[in-house]
Parts: sequence; structure tokens; C-alpha cells
Amino acid sequence: MAYSKEVVERFESVLENPEKHSVGRFDPNDKTVITGMVGAPACGDVMKLDMKMDGDRIADVKFKTYGCGSAIASSTMFVEMLKGKTIEEAKQIKDKDIADALQLPPIKLHCSVLAEEAIKKAIENWEPDSMMGHNNPPENGRWNWYGEAE
Ligand code: FES
Repeated sequence: MAYSKEVVERFESVLENPEKHSVGRFDPNDKTVITGMVGAPACGDVMKLDMKMDGDRIADVKFKTYGCGSAIASSTMFVEMLKGKTIEEAKQIKDKDIADALQLPPIKLHCSVLAEEAIKKAIENWEPDSMMGHNNPPENGRWNWYGEAE
């Protein structure tokens, strides 16, 4: 199995310049940030996604992915697509769009699902009435790799 040129270029670019690709996290005390953290049952890899909201619009995004090159390339593509979208628009982004764009082989399709699941999880924590997230920070302000408060 060979990675496509797009996956390799994105992966290497993240290694060279993580900040440019929004690797990181926002202040866990910021109530305008909603977080989704998920693991891939197929391989045990994990993605944590922070979305900073401005009303119902996604003003900025940061992520951390513990996973393969496909997962990291998929994460960067999702992050680019999410910035500036409303919650409703973000719900329309599908892992298949990313998998097609990156030409992921069948054995690697679950890698792009990871990022879509992280978006869904974060959106669950959005409260449209208050325009605030309800999951930040976890009780002690820290997350473990399984998306639970430590
Ligand atoms: Fe685990 Fe790709 S092999 S996310």
C-alpha cells in the first residue's frame, strides 16, 4: 500500500510546521471552545479537536492526533474545511469527501472517519441557546487520551 502524494505532502508539512496546520489546543477554561475527542476502534488511534466559536460560527480550530499519516493528513484537511463554517455547515462535511480527496485506500478509510467523529462529538457539546460549550473545562481542567476528564 502506498500513500498518495497529497497524504505524504500534508504529513511532512505538519512535521515541519505544526503551528501552521493548527496543531495544538485552546485554553480549556475558554467557554467558547467546544471539544471532541474520539478513538478509532480499528487501530486505537486518537484525535482531539478544539473548535473556538464566534456565535454559531467556527472562528478557529486546533487539533491533536495520535495516529498514522492518513489520520494526520485527514485532520489537517478537516481543520481547513471547518474554519469559518457554521455548526450546520460543519455537519455536512463527510469523511468520504476527505478520503476521496486524499485517495485513501480501503484499509485506511477509518483514518478519515476519526476526524468526522471528532467533529460530531464536539458539536454534541455545543449549546445553541447559550452560544457556549458545556464540556469545557473538564472538572480538573484536563483530558486524558480517551476523551474523559482525568
Ligand atoms: Fe489508525 Fe490510521 S491507522 S487512524
